[in-house]
Formats: sequence, C-alpha cells, structure tokens
Amino acid sequence: MRIAVVGTGYVGLVTGTCFAEVGIDVTCIDIDERKIENLRQGILPIYEPGLEEMVERNAQKGRLSFSTDLSEVVESCGCEAVFIAVGTPPGEDGSADLKYVLAVARHIGRSLKGYTVVVTKSTVPVGTARKVRQAIAEELEARGEQIDFDVASNPEFLKEGAAIDDFLKPDRIVVGVESERAEQVMSRLYKPFLMNGHPLIFMDIPSAEMTKYAANAMLATKISFMNDVANLCEIMGADVNMVRRGIGSDARIGNKFIYPGIGYGGSCFPKDVKALIKTASENGYAMQVLQAVEQVNERQKSVLFDKVVAHFNGDLAGRTFAVWGLSFKPKTDDMREAPSLVIIERLLEAGARVKAYDPVAMAEARHSLGDRVEYGKDEYEALIDADALLLVTEWPEFRSPNFSVVGKLMKEKVVFDGRNIYDGAELAAKGFAYHGIGVAQQVPQLDSTSATE
Ligand code: UDX
Repeated sequence: MRIAVVGTGYVGLVTGTCFAEVGIDVTCIDIDERKIENLRQGILPIYEPGLEEMVERNAQKGRLSFSTDLSEVVESCGCEAVFIAVGTPPGEDGSADLKYVLAVARHIGRSLKGYTVVVTKSTVPVGTARKVRQAIAEELEARGEQIDFDVASNPEFLKEGAAIDDFLKPDRIVVGVESERAEQVMSRLYKPFLMNGHPLIFMDIPSAEMTKYAANAMLATKISFMNDVANLCEIMGADVNMVRRGIGSDARIGNKFIYPGIGYGGSCFPKDVKALIKTASENGYAMQVLQAVEQVNERQKSVLFDKVVAHFNGDLAGRTFAVWGLSFKPKTDDMREAPSLVIIERLLEAGARVKAYDPVAMAEARHSLGDRVEYGKDEYEALIDADALLLVTEWPEFRSPNFSVVGKLMKEKVVFDGRNIYDGAELAAKGFAYHGIGVAQQVPQLDSTSATE
C-alpha cells in the first residue's frame, strides 16, 4: 500500500513513520524546504524518544521518503490515502484556524488522479471533513474532472513522549467514514496495528471529529477536578496523595490522569478545551463544566508561585530560584502552554533571579524566555546559591537527586514540589522545608548543618 502524509509536525511525522514501520510506502510532505532537507539527512524537527532511529531505518529501507511537492506526490504516487496532518493553530477567539487544512485539501483537489481517501488527522472541529470534501470537489469541478474520492476523519490520541508506542499499540483507533470503500481502505491500513486486540471503531464523520475533543476534554476535566480537590485538601488538612489512591482504585474512576499538579499544558488540552467551548457557544450551547475546567487550570498555574510568595512573606526581589524542568511534561522539548512559563514570568516580575535546567527543552525555552533566565549545565548547577528549588516538570532524573548535595549547593533548603514527586516528611528529616500540592507543608526537622550529612 502507498500513502502520503501532509505535514511533518508532531502528528504527521509520527503517523508517517509508524505506517512505514509496518511496511507501507509513505511519502511525508511539507512546504518547509529546510525541514524536508533536514529530514532527508535524518535531522528531526521535534524530539520524540525513538523516532529518529525509526525515521532513519525506514528511510534506508526505502519505505519512507520526504518531499515538498504535494502535487507531484498526489499525481504520481498512486496513494490509496492522503492524510492531512498540518497545524490548526488557535485563532484569536480560540477556535481552530483551518486555513492550512483547507489549503492542503484544495491542493489535493487540483492534483488528484484516481480514487483516494483524504483523511483528516489534525484535530479539527466538527464539520471540517465536510469542508474538506467541498474544497476538493470545487477544485475537481474547476478542472472539469470527475474523480471519485472520499473523506474520512481519523483523530489522533498520541501522547508526546510516548507517541510511537501509542501509535503502534493504540488503545483504540477511531475512524469516521461515509462509504464502504473508504472503510475498506482504512481497515487494510490499520490492520497491522490491531495485534493487541484493541478495537478499530468505525463511525460517522461528525462523531469521529467529536470523539477527539470529548476525549481530551474529559482528561482535562479529570486533571482540573483533582487540582480543585488538592487545593481543598490543603485547606482541610487532608492529603491528596492518599485521596488519589483512595478514589483511583475504583475502576469506574481509574487511577490515571488524576495527578494534581501545576495545571495541564501542551499543544492539545488547552487548545481543545477552548475550541470545544467555542464550538458550543457558536451553536447556542454553554459547556459549563469545561468553562470551569479552564478557569481552574488558569488558577492552578499560579499555585506554586503563590506558595513561594507565602513562604518568603512576599519578599522575592533579589532572591534566586532554581527551576527544574521547563517543558510542559517530561520526555518532550515542547514548551507550548507550559506552566513553567507562567511561574517563571511571575518570579521575574517579582524581581527574582531564575536559574533553570531542563534535560531537553532549554533551546525551546530560550525562544520565549531568552536571557532573562540563567540556564544551568545540569540540575545541580542550577541550584548554586538558590533560595529555593521549584520542581516544575517531573523528568525521571529529578526523582531521586542526592539531597545531601542539593542541600549543600543551595543557600536555603526549601523545595516547592509542583508534581508531588518527593516525600515531604523524608525531605523535612533531611532539613528541608517542603511544599507540595494538596499535601501538608513540612518544616525542617533538623538544623541545616547536621541535616544533609
Ligand atoms: C494529550 C492526550 O493525552 C493525547 O491523547 C492527545 O492526543 C493529545 O493530548 P499530551 O498533551 O502529549 O497528550 O500530554 P499528556 O501526557 O496527556 O499530558 C497533558 C498535560 O496534563 C500535561 O501538562 C501533564 O503534566 C498534565 N497532567 C497529566 C496532569 O497534570 N495530571 C495528570 O494526572 C496527567
């Protein structure tokens, strides 16, 4: 089988490479010549564990190629499906901007030679596949051609940092189709990924489009709900870590996505929650739960900063804060909507000095933070003379640091744990003041000279 994937961003590149991995001939297309040239040399525009080796292996086998020429590929590749995986950036009003998706659809319409399934893979509002179909049909009409095609909607559920595994072993694959023929093409394409017995679910196109938003909105709701519960736990003297374990063992609730923290970020949740609220309001309906989900998330991004202010009695000017982790979550360099940005801006506004370290996201972080922040060469360097450590992203290497070294490097032994990865009582026994999310704060149990020995 042959397919083309338009857009070599996160979703497009993972999709194309994973299809190649199971033996399908894939051409990945992008208008950005530099990106394509780099990909041909094995240089990737994003960081995703395992992807670079997979791109290289499949390119060498000749199953994965890269091109800037959409027309040429669609005209000559004999593709059974073309996946549209270009960006849908949020417009000023929060709705997804479809200009790239529809431009690609028109381009496909101008180049189509034979029956093809045109699949939207980008996260697009309900009703987009219909617009894609119309755009292609208009171009075909302008050409005076009668070529059969179908549109389909195939939303993506990849998590950054685990995208390859998610694609190769999906919980489910959702495909919206409107013809038997399209269903057959999509079935054949996805057959190799169904080995673990998880379902390929066919449905109508609007339902498939809605599924993506409903999934992300539900997950965002779980997180905001737990953040709300965590804040109340603190007030009432309960421990949210216990509450989480207590409720998570109920299979109806589940133990995933109930970790409180500093708010969700990334390229999906914030954008999709806003977009769904917008779609609803445009159609005369108010998504009240989601409005609250978003408000709680905005508030949660300030929770760690508020704890810093409270601990230092508002006196932050001239103090130094070490920040561990910048990306919106571990195993990615993605800084989109990262809570770290909000926390760091607040610290800087208060006149503090920030020394940050992230295993992979520092180059990305520089785009928005520039030289206003100092960047450590490792997590320990970022701690030198710090008045406090803020754990912002729970990278595995931050989980068990040598606290005796940590304590010696810092000016004051204070930890603000935005992800509840440390044991507060254990840190207190080592002489640290500890602040977590939804848990009791801990005062140092020993004086700082004996504590870290
Ligand atoms: C998400 C969805 O999981 C994925 O299915 C969809 O395709 C795209 O959006 P991603 O944005 O890569 O994936 O990250 P995810 O691991 O879902 O985390 C999203 C945010 O929620 C992160 O900021 C993370 O820190 C936060 N989170 C997650 C919590 O605060 N608590 C949790 O319990 C889980």
